[in-house]
Amino acid sequence: MQRPIGMFDSGFGGLTVARAVIDLLPREDVVYIGDTGRYPYGNKPLADVRTYARELAWSLVEEHDAKAVVVACNTAAAAMPIAELSAELPVPVIGVIEPGASAVVTATRSGRIGVIGTVGTVASGAYDRAVASTGVDVTLTTAACPGFVEFVERGQTSGAEIDVLAQRLLAPVVDAGVDALLLGCTHYPYLARVIGDVMGPDVVLVSSADETAFAVRDLLVEHGLLRSDDQGTPPEHRFLSSGDIDWFADLGRRLLGPELSEADTWTPGGVVLPHDSAHASHPHASRPDT
Ligand code: DGL
Repeated sequence: MQRPIGMFDSGFGGLTVARAVIDLLPREDVVYIGDTGRYPYGNKPLADVRTYARELAWSLVEEHDAKAVVVACNTAAAAMPIAELSAELPVPVIGVIEPGASAVVTATRSGRIGVIGTVGTVASGAYDRAVASTGVDVTLTTAACPGFVEFVERGQTSGAEIDVLAQRLLAPVVDAGVDALLLGCTHYPYLARVIGDVMGPDVVLVSSADETAFAVRDLLVEHGLLRSDDQGTPPEHRFLSSGDIDWFADLGRRLLGPELSEADTWTPGGVVLPHDSAHASHPHASRPDT
């Protein structure tokens, strides 16, 4: 039986990654959960987001038989590092932070790069660590952009209010003279025109969606999980939300495209989580650190 690629985000943002995965791997089944009932993640304690991430990942595996899990949310991957999630799940896992970090260090010419993300992602230091681990000598400036996610979730991706907010929030990366800016939140590609307008034509905007899709393909090949050509049946793309499913289908179709024709309800609490390893090795690791 064909098993889907499982993906999740706090809401609509991960659809940027889903779009790239569906385009690159058109024969694959995909099941996507948007946790819109509990969004935004960016201003919540990382310990809470860590639990949400584990719950969503385990639900994709146990309730939807996912053959691989894509954490299409930077804040979730910052709160529950991919290495730790991989260690507890029985299927391969991929996140957006490492593919994004490697793309932005490749894109820069001047060596001055920027990463924008939620308060949780930026405060976690996940990008500082991911960029350092590429081994490329760059100067990184990070900036949190509270408010961006909320605009996207409301379906508002342009207008005077967003322009004013973007000018204020992007000032640190503009002032740092970066020539490559990573959109370190999967919602932000939907605001790329506004962000690009503030940054100017000499700054390359890097989205982790495409890099993540390539990484998903490589992971499936490595584990022998890529769907073979000869399976006949058309791919299924399933979308679930913990919030208003009519809104998820309406806005989701606008953002992702025709594959999102309807949405079903996802209810938290359907799986029993194994013991969190963070409690065993680091007694205080799950405390909020934002
Ligand atoms: N798309 C999520 C991310 O990449 C947004 C988090 C939020 O809900 O604030 O971080």
